[in-house]
Amino acid sequence: MDKEKFYITTPIYYTNNYLHIGHSYTTIATDTMARYKKMRGYDVKFLTGSDEHGQKIEESAKQKGISPKEYVDHITNHIKDLWKLLNIDYDYYIRTTDEKHIKTVQKIFKALYYKGDIYKGHYEGLYCTPCETFFTESQLKDEKCPDCGREVNNVKEESYFFRLSKYQDRLIKHIEENDDFISPASRKNEMLNNFLRPGLEDLCVSRTSFKWGIPVEFDTDHVVYVWIDALSNYISALGYSSDDDSDFKKYWPADIHVVGKEIVRFHTIIWPAMLMALDLPLPKQIFGHGWLLIDGGKMSKSKGNVVDPKVLVDRYGVDAIRYFLLREVAFGQDGNFTNKSLIERINFDLANDLGNLLSRTVGMIDKYFGGTLPIFIDSDDESEKNIKDFSNDIIIKVEEYMDKMQFSNALTEIWNLVRRVNKYIDETTPWVLAKDEANKNKLANVMYTLAESLRIIGILITPAMPNTSKAIFEQLSIKDNSLLSWDSTKQFGLLQKDFSITKGNVIFPRIDIEKELEQLDAMIEATKAKVNNKEETKTENKTEEKEQIGFEDFLKMDFKIGEVLECEKIKKSNKLLKSQVKIGDKVIQIISGIANYYTPEEMVGKRVVVLTNLKPAKLCGEVSEGMILAASDNDNNLKIITVEDSENIIKSGAEVK
Ligand code: MSP
Repeated sequence: MDKEKFYITTPIYYTNNYLHIGHSYTTIATDTMARYKKMRGYDVKFLTGSDEHGQKIEESAKQKGISPKEYVDHITNHIKDLWKLLNIDYDYYIRTTDEKHIKTVQKIFKALYYKGDIYKGHYEGLYCTPCETFFTESQLKDEKCPDCGREVNNVKEESYFFRLSKYQDRLIKHIEENDDFISPASRKNEMLNNFLRPGLEDLCVSRTSFKWGIPVEFDTDHVVYVWIDALSNYISALGYSSDDDSDFKKYWPADIHVVGKEIVRFHTIIWPAMLMALDLPLPKQIFGHGWLLIDGGKMSKSKGNVVDPKVLVDRYGVDAIRYFLLREVAFGQDGNFTNKSLIERINFDLANDLGNLLSRTVGMIDKYFGGTLPIFIDSDDESEKNIKDFSNDIIIKVEEYMDKMQFSNALTEIWNLVRRVNKYIDETTPWVLAKDEANKNKLANVMYTLAESLRIIGILITPAMPNTSKAIFEQLSIKDNSLLSWDSTKQFGLLQKDFSITKGNVIFPRIDIEKELEQLDAMIEATKAKVNNKEETKTENKTEEKEQIGFEDFLKMDFKIGEVLECEKIKKSNKLLKSQVKIGDKVIQIISGIANYYTPEEMVGKRVVVLTNLKPAKLCGEVSEGMILAASDNDNNLKIITVEDSENIIKSGAEVK
């Protein structure tokens, strides 16, 4: 009989940055699920890849003086190296620069255009270049991008639009009728209440402002904008619309798209709408996991708080990192990453519980039986039966949790078994049994029970910790694959009765927590300093790179001395101050992002330099009619520019030139 198929995907990773441990979280979880399903007998297809187009990549490549393709090739190699390091056993790697993908996206775009689901229009809005996203004014935070906090620009472009609104009702119906479609359940309500029910707007799906993207075949000034390009990877990788679409026929629809919570919206609204427009079946489930946080906040390069997975793997080994990520955070929720919690998990769960169980078992078989157990005799031993029953219960629970991608709960159950077996050693006291030759059979019986439990534990942890399970099997000298299959866990007593052990290294050495934390803190400080240095160089470069302007350009700017008469905080914002500034005989209102540096009281009475002919703009609903100038650096310092005039000779309204 043909195996049942299981198609699971990670998002494709942006190639505009090196990946940190937060990114690795998605792949490790997906890899664990894929390995589990393979062990359960499914024909698994596990897809990952990279997202390689967009303005930001075009700019990064330009800054480095290389072509965008050279740039993405380099980052993609780095991503692939990282997955190798983390033991990610994917079946296919899709790149959005692959010819196969480009052709599929062009076909999809054309098909939707001819169907009338893509049409040409104009897009005007506030655009954040790094995030490649348009925002409405109300979406901005303190007039900056709500996602990355950087400046946005007003951009008007001719664009193609996808008729997302047309699919709103069908989407709502599908989500309401299919409980498992969006998981965990909380994310389902978020999508329905925050996005779908308030109403969908058509989606801008092309750009003319940059070139590094897939050209729209019938209008080559346009490149396909991010989501149609990126989301199509899940079917282009299967050969959809190509000469060989056998994988598409076999594996589509996807069983699970694993994604981080911030991209659930794209996967549960835009992607299904695209599929509906193409008359294709929808994925069975989108699982939106939470974020791995640092000090309660998001990891980001600019904050200098990213954790480099390579550093961690070099120090603690890949399985310790895989175990920590899967165990520490309930999959679906946010969780905090701290060095302390990582080291404690390694010491307590891995070194003490699992590592000890293996080294004690192997050590005792070596010591009491010279490394080879005699034929096992007493099969009616009560304590062994107890362990066997305990193990059978645990296996049922582990399967239930793994099927629902509740990795943390599954590992908790496996560790209940590890601890139960450790307790069994204390209950049976082999060192006492060993004192009397008459207990030899009983002692052999205990050793066998320990080894057999370790075989089962080794199998159960294989999806999460493939290297560790291998090390366990090596030390127990298990070579027969039929003793390593998932189903073999259900039979306690399969290990041959007179087996030999192969003593090996300690699988998880204990760590001196205090010393280790000190070293890690020093490393983090060093990384932060490196990031800051880089940022500084970047800013310096930026200053150098600014285009020259003529004197006539300078004259266009009307700088005047202003006197701050009144100043107050803007309630809706924690960064903005609202000042009434006297410029000669006129008073204008200025909103400035300086509340973190000056109190309103400090501002009143100051004589400041004001750019007075800046087009008025609304910030947090308040009109700003100019700009107060200030100097700021990369260390988060900011000082208002005032006049050096303690005698108060220069009055408000005086020109600055
Ligand atoms: N390119 C898009 C996905 C397109 S899929 C059609 C993208 N790429 S990404 O590189 O920014 O993110 C890849 C994955 O890493 C996402 O699932 C994202 O949620 C995850 N993570 C990035 N930082 C993370 C944490 N700090 N914690 C957990 N996951 C995080 O989005």
